[in-house]
Amino acid sequence: MRVREAAKRIAIGAVLLAAVGMTAEAKTKVTSQPFGKLPAGTPVEIYTLSDGAYEARIATYGGIVVSLKTPDRNGKSADVVLGFDDVDGYVANFNGLSDAYFGAIIGRYANRIAHGSFTLDGQKYSLPKNNGENTLHGGPHGFNNIVWKAKPVVNGVELRYRSKDGEAGFPGNLTATVRYTLVKGDLRIEYSATTDKTTVVNLTNHSYFNLAGQGDILKHELTLHASRFTPVDAGLIPTGQWKAVESTPFDFRKPTAVGARINSDDTQLHLGRGYDHNWVLDSKSGQLAEAAEVYDPSSGRVLKVLTDQPGIQFYSGNFLDGSIKGKGGTPDVLHAALCLETQHFPDSPNHPDFPSTELKPGERYHTVTIYSFSTR
Ligand code: GAL
Repeated sequence: MRVREAAKRIAIGAVLLAAVGMTAEAKTKVTSQPFGKLPAGTPVEIYTLSDGAYEARIATYGGIVVSLKTPDRNGKSADVVLGFDDVDGYVANFNGLSDAYFGAIIGRYANRIAHGSFTLDGQKYSLPKNNGENTLHGGPHGFNNIVWKAKPVVNGVELRYRSKDGEAGFPGNLTATVRYTLVKGDLRIEYSATTDKTTVVNLTNHSYFNLAGQGDILKHELTLHASRFTPVDAGLIPTGQWKAVESTPFDFRKPTAVGARINSDDTQLHLGRGYDHNWVLDSKSGQLAEAAEVYDPSSGRVLKVLTDQPGIQFYSGNFLDGSIKGKGGTPDVLHAALCLETQHFPDSPNHPDFPSTELKPGERYHTVTIYSFSTR
């Protein structure tokens, strides 16, 4: 009897603790409002996640991180991501052909698939091409260009999209969920997906960070916890090699300014027009670990990137040329921002020795990336 009574008390205590825990956890204010309409009339909402000094705004169109305000070392706030002021800006920039993908969720397959084709379970699949001979970021009708269903969750927003069998050329009905939460400067992105047919999936977020909130990122100091990277050919498709970064301008194992070696006479840098490569993370794939750190000496802002993914695409904004006018009409100049896209390696479906991106019915794709902001 006493034992049962004690067990009951423990159970009640646990329920109470869980309840308190839940309320204690809900620190971030989450609100939503209209963010305009697509040309076809589809309404777009924007969710604002505010946690004291930090604020993230996420649009249901493309799951785009529209703005991300963080304090500098003196407490002064700035928006540290590129983008546009309104949904019209994103729609106008989007042309399905190698656009900038500012802040968007990328799917079904982040980065390139060579010749828009791969074979799965003995069947060949052809994808629409949108980057020369190749398919980039899910093709011309990727996850960046759809309106996601959204619901508020504790400290954030959850987005959901059901991509139909054959959509954008990929097999299987794929249900994808992306949950953004913001707690004390940690923007956490949790991606999940299930399928009813064997398929490939590789989701990421394409935020362009500039920790100074202006100018370029050449003086940002970058650390990448990676001893190897995957070199590319002229179409930016991996050659299949895993190359050591040692003694190359790709060695960011110690903090190094992005601009320090970007103009070195190096074939890979020439092919990428700067850095636009996948680094093979040293951490054990599947375990959340620090992958990268960026430090801006001028503002003191620090961005740490944590992920459980095997790779990270460091892209130094090489295709920005000032022709895009971003927020407030500001031209997005060469190297105005950098992307750190946590991912599986580009073109994995055509490289059996790269970690597999296959997802089978009954399995759950699940991955977490945290963009963690602080100052120094
Ligand atoms: C990056 C990719 C670049 C470029 C960019 C979008 O993820 O690596 O080559 O396509 O997206 O402009």
